[in-house]
Amino acid sequence: MKEGEKSDMLKDRPRLFDLDDLEQKPTTGNGFYGKDILSVKQFDPDSLAYIFDVAEEMREMVRRVGGADLLKGHVLTCLFYEPSTRTSSSFIAAMARLGGGIIPITQGVQFSSVSKGESLPDTIRTLEQYSDVIVLRHPDEGSAKMAADYAAIPVMNAGDGTGEHPTQALLDLFTIQDELDRIDGLHIAMVGDLRFGRTVHSLTRLLAQYNVKLSFVSPEILRLPLVIMNDVRDAGLDVRETHSVADIIETADVLYVTRVQKERFSELSQYDAVKDYYTITPELMERAQDNMVVMHPLPRVGEIAYSVDGDPRAAYFRQVQNGMYIRMALLAAVLGKA
Ligand code: NCD
Repeated sequence: MKEGEKSDMLKDRPRLFDLDDLEQKPTTGNGFYGKDILSVKQFDPDSLAYIFDVAEEMREMVRRVGGADLLKGHVLTCLFYEPSTRTSSSFIAAMARLGGGIIPITQGVQFSSVSKGESLPDTIRTLEQYSDVIVLRHPDEGSAKMAADYAAIPVMNAGDGTGEHPTQALLDLFTIQDELDRIDGLHIAMVGDLRFGRTVHSLTRLLAQYNVKLSFVSPEILRLPLVIMNDVRDAGLDVRETHSVADIIETADVLYVTRVQKERFSELSQYDAVKDYYTITPELMERAQDNMVVMHPLPRVGEIAYSVDGDPRAAYFRQVQNGMYIRMALLAAVLGKA
């Protein structure tokens, strides 16, 4: 055979794919296609309403048929440098229910080359060769932004240290809307570790775009960071700070309870001093409004008594489920399928 000539075997090989037929144009009109999700600052009430609407459609689809092939052929990498149950599992479930594949590096990066000393940029630039979207949780604030600067594919921030946790804030807001049918006009109280709790930071920033009253309930050393407080004040919201849940329990529409973030304390004695500061009990719930909603990003370590779980106002496990629908909506949106 002469150089440049194809063997008969090669010439006769039938094509496996009709790519002209398979290729689909991405949906780009919503502004999410190909975008990173790094901060709640990227969202406004219009884009939130859009994501919530898609999430509702996802919920209906899952309830009726379980799953669909919307993201078939797409691969998600879940890269988690910190522990997670809900965030990682809900992203994995979201991708699975939409027919996509998953690279799960969630059971401890010690089993990946990170333990050999590989840097975040190199790990990201490797994983993006296999995937269409990366979800990252990392102990350093700004790590998701750094990963996004290196990756050509969308990066979603699943928690960067004490910085932000935008997808959680979206599911939190979606849950409030779902439980109470509105956001404007509500009195929302955040309770617990407002200093280190990234879910609080993201949700507060989102809520600052609405006409809500916010109460921040924490021990002195766990008060909301001043920069976030200033953002909220600049937005013109009615804000109060207190140490006592008793001050707000009768008027709150939403009680957003959080865990004291033990892993962020440099002195364990400081953690010990505040770890049992609040416990939501059935007795406390008796003083709350009949349609108040109790939320928690979870895990809880004593802030809400188990005896509250049977109260219809306890929404934290419904909140967990909503996380999957919101993440289905976000994945579909950044991959150009929503
Ligand atoms: C939160 C987190 O990781 O920031 N968990 C979650 O994602 N649902 C809250 C926490 O760990 O306390």
